[in-house]
Amino acid sequence: MEEKLFRNEKIEFTDGLNRTFEKLPEDALFVVDRKLLQVTEGLMTFLEGKKMYLFDASEKNKNLSELEKIYDFLLENHVSQTLIAIGGGITGDLAGYAAATFKRGIPFVMVPTTLLSMCDSSVGGKCGVNFRGIKNYIGAFRKPDRIIICLEFLKTLEERELRSGLGEILKYGLIGNRLILDDLLSSDKDLFHLPMKEYILSGLLIKSEVVQADYSDQGIRNILNFGHNVGHAIESVLEGAVTHGEAVALGILAEIDLSTMKLGLNPETGIKAMKIMDKYGLRRKISADKEKLMEAIRKDKKNDENMRFTLLSELEKPEIKVMVQEAEILEALTVILE
Ligand SMILES: NC(=O)c1ccc[n+]([C@@H]2O[C@H](COP(=O)([O-])OP(=O)(O)OC[C@H]3O[C@@H](n4cnc5c(N)ncnc54)[C@H](O)[C@@H]3O)[C@@H](O)[C@H]2O)c1
Repeated sequence: MEEKLFRNEKIEFTDGLNRTFEKLPEDALFVVDRKLLQVTEGLMTFLEGKKMYLFDASEKNKNLSELEKIYDFLLENHVSQTLIAIGGGITGDLAGYAAATFKRGIPFVMVPTTLLSMCDSSVGGKCGVNFRGIKNYIGAFRKPDRIIICLEFLKTLEERELRSGLGEILKYGLIGNRLILDDLLSSDKDLFHLPMKEYILSGLLIKSEVVQADYSDQGIRNILNFGHNVGHAIESVLEGAVTHGEAVALGILAEIDLSTMKLGLNPETGIKAMKIMDKYGLRRKISADKEKLMEAIRKDKKNDENMRFTLLSELEKPEIKVMVQEAEILEALTVILE
């Protein structure tokens, strides 16, 4: 029943790892985050005798050479099977792009195993790889035929990765559901006991509605990019020293500052975001070269000679394609630089 809420996204929630495995076709081909074999109970047994490509998930490996290895794996084994990715956003983006492009597209099922991939990256069809140091420069739009979410996977996730997912949840709270922010602020629970299913559902509702309205990211879908212009630049410049969600949360702080500067956003919103980040241990400062960050923002695939950001005029009121000047960005960057 839940899946009906998510316009055009074929999302199923399952209880328990065994139930999840039972739902997967026996003769499928698998791309699996290698780390899961060590931490996920029953996965090794389930995969025994199946055709699989084990992937070492890292931003560095989200590249064309790994993609080519997956094409080889498909070429050697493909008859007419489905490709199933079991892993986080990196595994999903890479395997999804392989499925989108191999023989012009083969059936694809995503089993997200991180908070970030459950609430965000598995949905909406964006897939791809990094290229020449630019995030997701090569990619496509291709929705998975099914997304199977099992919260059991979260139990083995490292604290830092849970926090990373919280970065995107913070974004959803700011652009579309302030109740998430209120809940995070007033909760007496630690990171491991937060009501993640509720946050995932809220995020998926916001994302699926926006994606339905603007699948190819020409307009309203840009609101999901809040925090990402600066966030992607941080990821590029710090190369692996920050996770995607950590970079997005830092990007959010800089872009909140820009929102206050450009659109008169109430500074209280920034204070709220900072309190949440402090409460759950998301870092608010990094040490990086301002000029290098600026250079990476200029190079972002979404920017031409004009830099246009998604900013907030009020809480839950994102505005897309707001033109910003370099001097303004440089000023906003000081908020997050040590
Ligand atoms: N396609 C989209 O719309 C979209 C949206 C947001 C982010 N993204 C992309 O998603 C990526 C980030 O995704 P991510 O944060 O899931 O990263 P990830 O896939 O690297 O996973 C993070 C870490 O957790 C490990 N891991 C995965 N599942 C685990 C589990 N159940 N237990 C223990 N460890 C586990 C991985 O091995 C990895 O070390 C970025 O590349 C980003 O660009 C894509």
